[in-house]
Amino acid sequence: MSQKSIAVLTSGGDAPGMNAAVRAVVRAGINRGMRVFGIYRGYNGLLNGDIQEMNLRSVSDIIGNGGTMLYTARSEEFKKKEAQERAADFCRSRGIEGVVVIGGDGSFRGARALTAAGINCIGVPGTIDNDIACSEYTVGFDTAMNTALEMVDRIRDTAQSHDRCSIVEVMGRRCGDIALQTGIATGATAILVPEIEYNIERDVIERIINTQKTGKKHFVIVVAEGVGGVRDLAKYIEQRLGIEARATVLGHVQRGGSPTVRDRVVASQMGYEAVSLLDKGIGNRVVVMRDGKITNLDINEALDMERVFDKKLYKIAMSVSI
Ligand code: ADP
Ligand code: F6P
Repeated sequence: MSQKSIAVLTSGGDAPGMNAAVRAVVRAGINRGMRVFGIYRGYNGLLNGDIQEMNLRSVSDIIGNGGTMLYTARSEEFKKKEAQERAADFCRSRGIEGVVVIGGDGSFRGARALTAAGINCIGVPGTIDNDIACSEYTVGFDTAMNTALEMVDRIRDTAQSHDRCSIVEVMGRRCGDIALQTGIATGATAILVPEIEYNIERDVIERIINTQKTGKKHFVIVVAEGVGGVRDLAKYIEQRLGIEARATVLGHVQRGGSPTVRDRVVASQMGYEAVSLLDKGIGNRVVVMRDGKITNLDINEALDMERVFDKKLYKIAMSVSI
């Protein structure tokens, strides 16, 4: 029987822990007797032939590195059917039977298209946003939250020293999870997320006034990227309440850095699971975390799911951050 060949790529926004997932795919594959190829710069690597065979040492010393050693890209070209057919032909020309795609739900749509073109693909959730409905957890989320936590803690030091209000925007595209978790962990007086309808007077101004009455003079407001407008909010708070306010957009600092234990471990589990599926000749699945366990789902089913925001946690945050 000829040796099975698989490949791995990272796609969409990079996330801490992607390297740990790549490492797991390479090593689990080689340990099962497979040849494993790294595809560079997302789906573009399949269109440009930018691939390299990996060995056990190709992924040495990367588990603690942020970013992705395979680089990543957003490939508009790959959205076209002709490009997907060409990518599948390229895989066949190299004997590659399966591809592990580490990325977000956009990348999973690409994986579904490549599977339809004849190459088994398995998705592994890798994005700081935690915005993939089918999985409780996405690789990179924990590291990003901890980075945001450290940054907001630092901002709080200076806000406290000046009796100011600091408004901090955290990433998450249309998902409020980073804001919610960071907000509760830093004791933010208000947290604004796209999933919960808000009213500035009720949910920001009144909360600040009520907190002021208890003697507090500095405030942190955490705002999700999907809500935005932190500079305008700072101006409004200054005018409305006469408190000095400063706005900070944390931005890409949240995407980098050495992955936490959780991200390294989950990435290793998910990468391993992806290889097990490809080894059985199974494709068109996404590796997910459900009830804290690593399992897998059909890609179509996974992409049809709707995210559920943790309203209970939001309620807790609002009740304890006063
Ligand atoms: P993420 O994977 O983080 O959600 P994107 O939405 O930017 O990021 O998607 C990453 C890449 O996945 C895109 O640049 C494209 O190459 C591929 N992709 C996204 N949507 C599709 C689609 N409908 N069909 C084929 N490929 C897609
Ligand atoms: O999906 C990860 C993410 O960092 C989002 O939180 C953010 O909206 C987006 O990517 C930023 O994308 P870019 O790096 O292209 O500016």
